[in-house]
Amino acid sequence: MTALTATPSVPLVDLARQHRELAHEIEPAVLAVLARADFVQGSAVAAFEAAFAQFSGTEHCAGVANGTDALELALRAAGIGHGDEVIVPANSFFATAEAVVLAGATPVLVDVDPVFHLIDVEAAEAARTARTRAVLPVHLYGQMAFVERLRDAMGADVVIIEDAAQAQGARRHGDGIGANSLAAATSFYPGKNLGAAGDAGAVLSNDAAFDTAIRQLRNHGSIEKYHHEHIGRNSRLDTIQAVVLAAKLTRLAEWNHQRRAAAALYDDLLADEARVARPATAAGNEHVFHLYVVQVDHRDDVLAELNRVGIGAGVHYPIPLHRQPALGPHLDGPLTFPNSEALAARALSLPLFPGIDVAEQERVVQTLRHVLDHIA
Ligand SMILES: Cc1ncc(COP(=O)(O)O)c(C=O)c1O
Repeated sequence: MTALTATPSVPLVDLARQHRELAHEIEPAVLAVLARADFVQGSAVAAFEAAFAQFSGTEHCAGVANGTDALELALRAAGIGHGDEVIVPANSFFATAEAVVLAGATPVLVDVDPVFHLIDVEAAEAARTARTRAVLPVHLYGQMAFVERLRDAMGADVVIIEDAAQAQGARRHGDGIGANSLAAATSFYPGKNLGAAGDAGAVLSNDAAFDTAIRQLRNHGSIEKYHHEHIGRNSRLDTIQAVVLAAKLTRLAEWNHQRRAAAALYDDLLADEARVARPATAAGNEHVFHLYVVQVDHRDDVLAELNRVGIGAGVHYPIPLHRQPALGPHLDGPLTFPNSEALAARALSLPLFPGIDVAEQERVVQTLRHVLDHIA
């Protein structure tokens, strides 16, 4: 396989390519913030919040410092804390469960379904106790979880807070993130579909009182300067991040379209490849393909060989949440999640980003086939 090392590499994501497309808009906007010096709570923050709320189809958007804070503050604004249980899928990025612990509540893990890898609605229903106050469905890899089914199954006493870190612009039966729940928390980590030039996040909702509570918590528990009604946090969205995000937001719909087109091309290129299980999209979902995740046997060997020959494949996520040492003391009950375990062993994220070209995708698939021919 050494001959393949001579071919150009394909990164998992290419943020420099994205920046080149928008540098002429982003750079003057950042320089203007430097000149105005309104670094914290500048007017560009409110302008971005309004634009992102409109894009997402919610009435409110409160910018915060990162996606983990967005989840934690959403839980706290919903009054969830010590003694409360929050149901979380076992296959997610660590921050989903971490936010529950940071809010003072107890995460209760449930498995994901075997086809779409989204929180299993029946498992969530079965995990419900008298202390269950919330469910955090994760819109994994860019497709929305079954929010409306969860809402019906859990009833009005359990709030739903969507972890929409990977799903900006996604839709389900025509509804966007935050449309059918108390709130959607999102992350603008640089590699996300809408990414900042550093850390940033937001909470979307249609509830004015809840939105005010987030604005208070993100700013030291204060709405009126020097009047602090809660112990909050310093978790504001920087003005510089707001102008970067506002510029990129104008491209997000097109970028999501390009991601879907790239995913469709991978589907075609891999259609006859029995050794590779392709991702499935649930009926009614408009997927935004934050990640294109296939499943293969001998995943670690395949990954190592792809990386060795310059294909920037990755794994999301190699360790399910119930195996994370930090969560051990916070978890209870039988921690048996076969679908999350299988995914952790077999998931392989292929390079996918707006602007990836056909030749790059063909090279990824050709290399993957070649690697699979020589493994095991
Ligand atoms: C599913 C999920 N939840 C939460 C987060 C946390 O977001 P952040 O890194 O902005 O804190 C991320 C991304 O990193 C994520 O992918």
